[in-house]
Amino acid sequence: MICMERETMQSPHQTRRNFLTGASAAGTLLLASRFSAAVAKVPGGPILLEARPGSAQLLETVKNRTSIWGFDGAVPGPVIRVKQGGEVWVRLKNSLPQPTTIHWHGIRIDNAMDGVAGLTQEPVPPGESFDYRFTAPDAGTFWYHPHNRSWEQVARGLYGTLIVEEPDAPDVDQDIIAIIDDWRLGEDGAIDEESFGSMRDKSHLGRLGNILSINGKFTGEFGVRSGERIRLRLINTCNARILKLRFEELNPYVIAVDGQPVTPYELDHGLVTIAPAQRIDFLIDMTGAAGATQAITEVSQSRLVAATFNYNQLPALRVRTSKLKLRDNGLPHPDISSARNVDLIMTGGAMGQADKITYKGTSYDMRQLVREHGMVWAFNGNAGMPKEPLFSARIGESIAVRMDNDTRWPHAMHFHGHHFREAGPSAPWHDTLLMEAGEKRTIYLYADNPGKWMIHCHMLEHQAGGMASWFEVKA
Ligand code: C2O
Ligand code: CU
Repeated sequence: MICMERETMQSPHQTRRNFLTGASAAGTLLLASRFSAAVAKVPGGPILLEARPGSAQLLETVKNRTSIWGFDGAVPGPVIRVKQGGEVWVRLKNSLPQPTTIHWHGIRIDNAMDGVAGLTQEPVPPGESFDYRFTAPDAGTFWYHPHNRSWEQVARGLYGTLIVEEPDAPDVDQDIIAIIDDWRLGEDGAIDEESFGSMRDKSHLGRLGNILSINGKFTGEFGVRSGERIRLRLINTCNARILKLRFEELNPYVIAVDGQPVTPYELDHGLVTIAPAQRIDFLIDMTGAAGATQAITEVSQSRLVAATFNYNQLPALRVRTSKLKLRDNGLPHPDISSARNVDLIMTGGAMGQADKITYKGTSYDMRQLVREHGMVWAFNGNAGMPKEPLFSARIGESIAVRMDNDTRWPHAMHFHGHHFREAGPSAPWHDTLLMEAGEKRTIYLYADNPGKWMIHCHMLEHQAGGMASWFEVKA
């Protein structure tokens, strides 16, 4: 059983939450290959993906299944795989009681297919369908989720993995996906719906759950053979939780961040931080003995076993000695010396001291804005999607976005349609960057993808509470 104490303090249930604490009993072995649900396909046509209610067994001790919303009724939704440069063609059918979309997070996509309700498309009404059709330029680990009321829809379970495969498949024995999410559940396993979009969550850390899940289950158990080489694709689909994972007795190294290959590096003390929406790909040579068990624990609040690797009894394979390095996707680099400066100053939130914030053209003081519109954050003094873009760039222009987190809270800053990087020869590419409270960071973006692209905090309650803007790239 994996569970977490709720960090927000106003839950009437909180004192009874400790019933959830306890060690995980060995569950059934879940091999990566069995995890990929079958994808329904029209011959020669699209993959069918239905957003609809379903259920999941998220608690170990309680029989009740949790009512969720999921793609094809499951959480996570089906794994979609495509070869690099290949076409993804998905027909979304909306069988939810509210409008929805699909956003393909981290894909440098055709703007019309970006799935942002109100910016790149109208949301798909209940009962209707929408075709997403695009090529995937970069090999790597990506994910998909709605971009309409995402603070509710993602929290209910609407997300899945999109893998873009390298043409020259890296030499590994297993390719394991680990989607980690947290849920706010009652003792009966039901999602706490009352607190969706609560002002307290919006103005503090966002919606933190009390239950952790891995691949839609309360525990992740992976069968391995000693000596195997494993690729582990870690995805944080939490609304707001910054996961801190510790690899116990394992010696992984990072091979990709946010879908883009990096020069391999090892973790400090086996610890890794992964913000909402980020992905990290690891390579792990499994050096434990036959019959051994090794674990990944989540330590952001208490120490919880997130996943275990159970070694079978087969004789050990010879451990590979060569380091694996993925081939670069060849992203065009921004020109750091000539980049045009744009400021992005974040203000607001609990204990923040923003004086005036503009919302839909009217200026408010913070209390009034909270009371009247449920908004509490601003980019450059503006809450929510502004009429004018944060910046407008020509194709081929390099932009330096000087981000200043002038709040008491961390934020996971996400830019659509582009990857970006900080200065420095080995700075990794990102589509989502964690900014700690008070931190200033400059990112460089090479504008080469025409259209209207969102910028927002991927802590979904912060986004709903005002941390949303957009930029435009013009031919
Ligand atoms: Cu993962 Cu704008 O979203
Ligand atoms: Cu935020």
